[in-house]
Amino acid sequence: MKSSFSKLLVLAFMVAVLAACGSTNNGGTNSNASEGDKKVLKMATSADFPPFESRDTKGNFEGFDIDLANLIAEELGYELKIEDMKFDGLVGALQSNRVDMVLAGMSADEKRKKNVDFSTEYHRSGEMFITKPDSTIEGLESLKGKVVGVQLGTIQEEGADELSKEYGFEVKKVDNAGILIQEINSNRIDVAYMDKEVASGYMEAQGLIGFDDPTTSSPGMAIAFPKGSELVADVNGVLEELEASGKIQELRDKWELAE
Ligand code: ARG
Repeated sequence: MKSSFSKLLVLAFMVAVLAACGSTNNGGTNSNASEGDKKVLKMATSADFPPFESRDTKGNFEGFDIDLANLIAEELGYELKIEDMKFDGLVGALQSNRVDMVLAGMSADEKRKKNVDFSTEYHRSGEMFITKPDSTIEGLESLKGKVVGVQLGTIQEEGADELSKEYGFEVKKVDNAGILIQEINSNRIDVAYMDKEVASGYMEAQGLIGFDDPTTSSPGMAIAFPKGSELVADVNGVLEELEASGKIQELRDKWELAE
């Protein structure tokens, strides 16, 4: 007797809960209409790549990509959530739909295009080798027998593997671009091979020297999305607007990107 009564109570409770859910859904406002109830746009980055993405002293994300992502989210009516991960894990995070987009100074190369979709390109850079100021390394020919550091999962990793065959150097791979600089300073690598824009910043900040890689022509940077994402068209539209209004140029100036 008692148990069937309590079963009834539970049932009545469940019906009430379901009814309550139903009524808020029906009567509720459209999800993206009101402030504080915005759709969330999940972005991932690898915040080791100034001036594109890094963290300030308080741990807040900052950089060109961060500002750009905020403009895009604002324009499309989303609340932006940023997640920091290893660069090497970004494509996987898109493939498993754990995030909606990636801004990480990521080059829109053909290999990645098999696994993710890209927006139109927003910046073009190149590659550089950087080293300590007292180093005698001054060109590809002087890399023989040296240790060249690269960030895992980058096009520079692939490029260095390729170049090492011809120029006879060893390639050391690390997770984080910032660690490459520590590795130079503590003599664990002779040279770091990285994006030219980012290398220039580190050279200035750390008193390093370097030279351009004359052999590369890397693709431009773009925003990456899961394959087939409907966001690509929307974001491309916003990029076009932001370019036309001069807002992207303002960001280039703010973060001192080379043209
Ligand atoms: N542009 C290079 C690439 O796509 C390096 C990007 C590294 N980005 C970063 N946030 N660490 O492979």
